[in-house]
Amino acid sequence: MNLPSYAMKQASFPEMYERHLVGRLFQPWAEMTVEEIKLSSGDRVLDIACGTGIVARVAKERLGDHACVVGVDLSPDMLAVARAVAPGIDWREGSAGALPLREEERFDAVVCQQGLQFFPDKPAAAAQMRRALVHGGKLAVATWRSDEEVPFFRELRRVAERHLGSIADQRHSFGEPVLLEALLRDTGFHEVRSKIVSRTIRFEDGASFVRMNSMALVGMSAAAKAMHDEERKCVLETIVRESEPVLRSYSDTSGLAFQLSTNLATARG
Ligand SMILES: C[S@@+](CC[C@H](N)C(=O)[O-])C[C@H]1O[C@@H](n2cnc3c(N)ncnc32)[C@H](O)[C@@H]1O
Repeated sequence: MNLPSYAMKQASFPEMYERHLVGRLFQPWAEMTVEEIKLSSGDRVLDIACGTGIVARVAKERLGDHACVVGVDLSPDMLAVARAVAPGIDWREGSAGALPLREEERFDAVVCQQGLQFFPDKPAAAAQMRRALVHGGKLAVATWRSDEEVPFFRELRRVAERHLGSIADQRHSFGEPVLLEALLRDTGFHEVRSKIVSRTIRFEDGASFVRMNSMALVGMSAAAKAMHDEERKCVLETIVRESEPVLRSYSDTSGLAFQLSTNLATARG
């Protein structure tokens, strides 16, 4: 990928996300999701909560350079990385609850990978997804399963909770497929189906992954928000250090390996 040179010296979170997480963690599911919706030549694709844009990029690769692919995200910093990596895609800043689309703009496929769990108003976002689709258009939405079902993440959260008290991990907060399906049916989608997909995730540099995950947990902790910077940094280092036994127990000679599961819901508009 093509990151600006300053990123090599001091990477921002979106740059670290792209460099360390996308290839190992998000790209395989993006390929699966794009496969699942069976894109046809000429399909227009909308990627909601696109982040650094992996789903949009996979769709563009499949459909070719002239395809209409739009990625929308709330974060200008995530979009800056998306633009640096794939300047040929139409990246737009905006909220899933009020998509930045033209009045008449419609898509043949709408995808939202690991974004819905973060949206404060899920019915509004689902209504926007439906509005963005042509009649009969294809929808795919993926949300991680609860971390209670992902032992590696559950154990890492418990280490952090020793220092920070209870942490509601938003990444795993919409893991119940019944709720996901109900949301889509209540919005008026047809042919709503969901399945659970699990795969083994591998990182050669497991320590870096655990550090990033610890940073995410500290970032989601109410107790950490009330701390001074120095105290927060100190707690982070303690959590990283105390996570080492968990990391060791999920590592083999080729690095870290753990099972992760997602819900994948599909529907028609
Ligand atoms: C875990 S990332 C997933 C990114 C991307 N879909 C992927 O698979 O790599 C979640 C993304 O949701 C975005 N997001 C969170 N709330 C949002 C909202 N209300 N509207 C649009 N994007 C949002 C964040 O900025 C972030 O880029």
